[in-house]
Amino acid sequence: DIEQKITALMAKMTLEEKVGQMNQYNGFWDVTGPSPKEGNAALKYEHLRKGWVGSMLTVRGVEQVRAVQKIAVEETRLGIPLIIGFDVIHGYKTLAPIPLAEAASWDMEAIKHSAQVAADEASASGINWTFGPMVDISRDARWGRVMEGAGEDPYLGAKVATARVKGFQGDDLSAPNTIAACAKHFAAYGFAESGRDYNTVDIGNATLYNTVLPPFKAANDAGVRTFMNSFNILNGVPATGSSFLQRDILKGKWGFDGFVITDWASIKEMITHGFAKDGAEASEKAVKAGADMDMESYLYVNELVKLVNEGKVDVALVDDAVRRILRVKYELGLFDDPYRYCDEKREKATINSKANHEAVLDVAKKSIVLLKNELNLLPLKKTGQKIALIGALAADKNSPLGSWRIASDDNTAVSVLEGMQQYKGNTLTYEKGGELFIGKSTFLDEVVFNTTDRSGFEAAKRAAKDADVVVMVLGEHGFQSGEGRSRTNLDLPGLQQELLEEVYKVNPRIVLVLNNGRPLALQWAAEHIPAIVEAWHLGSETGNAVAQVLYGDYNPSGKLPMSFPRNVGQVPIYYNQHSTGRPVNSDSNVFWSHYSDVEKTPQYAFGHGLSYTTFKYGTPKLDKKTYAKGEPVKVSVEITNTGNYDGKEVVQLYMRDVSASLSRPVKELKGFELVSFKKGETKTVTFTLTDAELGFYNNNGDYLVEPGTFKIFVGTSSDNVQETEFELK
Ligand code: IFM
Repeated sequence: DIEQKITALMAKMTLEEKVGQMNQYNGFWDVTGPSPKEGNAALKYEHLRKGWVGSMLTVRGVEQVRAVQKIAVEETRLGIPLIIGFDVIHGYKTLAPIPLAEAASWDMEAIKHSAQVAADEASASGINWTFGPMVDISRDARWGRVMEGAGEDPYLGAKVATARVKGFQGDDLSAPNTIAACAKHFAAYGFAESGRDYNTVDIGNATLYNTVLPPFKAANDAGVRTFMNSFNILNGVPATGSSFLQRDILKGKWGFDGFVITDWASIKEMITHGFAKDGAEASEKAVKAGADMDMESYLYVNELVKLVNEGKVDVALVDDAVRRILRVKYELGLFDDPYRYCDEKREKATINSKANHEAVLDVAKKSIVLLKNELNLLPLKKTGQKIALIGALAADKNSPLGSWRIASDDNTAVSVLEGMQQYKGNTLTYEKGGELFIGKSTFLDEVVFNTTDRSGFEAAKRAAKDADVVVMVLGEHGFQSGEGRSRTNLDLPGLQQELLEEVYKVNPRIVLVLNNGRPLALQWAAEHIPAIVEAWHLGSETGNAVAQVLYGDYNPSGKLPMSFPRNVGQVPIYYNQHSTGRPVNSDSNVFWSHYSDVEKTPQYAFGHGLSYTTFKYGTPKLDKKTYAKGEPVKVSVEITNTGNYDGKEVVQLYMRDVSASLSRPVKELKGFELVSFKKGETKTVTFTLTDAELGFYNNNGDYLVEPGTFKIFVGTSSDNVQETEFELK
């Protein structure tokens, strides 16, 4: 049994070797933090050879992984294999849509399959551990990392977390095509003040327990083998030094028996946070708080042995961390065969395989959200049309790959232009509309937009003028979201809004295709442009997915996983808010909760998304009016496809606990079902609510289900529902 093997191995380990297991170094290629530089590479090799390294990150490719693994296995005293980590965020080489986009599919099977494909490719390339899924809830579109998560809602976030963990890890972690997953960033990183990355987080326990933690808990329940702590301070304590988070909640209440990796140098950053005076104190605080493995702080490896010898850190804490790390290595099968993930033949056959491209195309189509469709513009007619395609992003083969795709090859996406060119029945004219960017756009650089040169506008207008339909692809560059990519402005960047308005003057029959890694503020477009398609950054198969949706070969069914504000001043904006004491204008004066200059509702609400067909909802029905505690509550609703196409609909159920010992949100998602309908078909969809849905966490983290009145809302989006209610005795 694994635990006995670990005990036997640990009996042979020196304190230095144990601490070595808790040390992780970056590989040969530096992206996300202070550079290891050449000098450090020599030190890293020396430490590797001594058995002072338990893991490496960003080493990739069978050849390179085999090379470092060989040192660990053949040159160290005990030959303990390394665990090889990598940010497999939305695919490895073959890229799926960014995670936020995938969440918009509300299709858990598709999301799980996408993670499976990513695990298959990454593991074929030597990797056995991904730093994903990111399960941070965020209500702030200014924060660039919203692209990596599942949006603003803890219920949807928990389902997506489960799907991704199961996709990455499969049923058998030791299988060569599954990898260990990592729920990150624990915790509350998505609540950075003012949406500025790495910033302070100060939230109450109601938000922590009810909004931030549920997706992490779901990941743990799904068996995720690792957690990553986070860069931020939470209520004064850096997450990396928080025993409340890591020991009390994660390893205590939740019984997590895998290991916690720090975020990049986050132990060291506790000094900068003003939480530790030096590296020794930072290490002491981190290990006591439950951080098991140090990513690139160089601190555990330098400080822990001394701290134990001085009696400042109990060796039992080191032993516990090492046991956890070794446990995951055993489960991955690394002790049976350290080269299990190093098979050149498999690497060649798997990376960029046809099946993988088909899989990411499938989820890309499912991730697209139809925000608006007037004038019957969509789907486009397939013959006899003059189509003008406008926008630099339309021909871009790099930007649609999105952020966080460090293993992929640049410029490998199918562009929208290439996708549309496959439909040959129409005349397609492409105009760039001018340069969009200045300078290089890479993972490490700021994306700089052209804000002065309008010389491309005239040609774009000429092309638009006599077109039957104008398709404009506008939005953010793929590297404009992601880590370190916060924005204070959510408009279309650069000159794109101007271009849109200029083209609109000559031909308003515009289909706006958006490329973005976060909600944008689209007030003008929403009011003027007849058709808007949210196409995010969809990965390798972007152009094919977009073209198939525009031409109606795929009927869109995506729904927004985050509210889209009218302007940035509304942020943070989210549907599951609490009621103020003055939610409506009942006294006809200004003293109610609103803005003077813009409506308080979002431009596009959480859960919004149209189809080429239409759905008619009946009133939700309950099987009873009063339920005893513990009794399942059954809610059913009849839905008819009343339009002209077969289609899919995400039927959404929301709930409100009307009066409770803590004020509860005005609406909370508590169920959803993705249902296919033939044209004209009627189906009854039934949801069952149990204690798991009806309760909430109080400020001590206890889960309560309280009697009283519950409102139930069923509908097509959070702002388009019909309601009923019941009593819980
Ligand atoms: O996994 C990431 C994390 O999300 C942000 N900091 C760096 C880590 C490793 O690349």
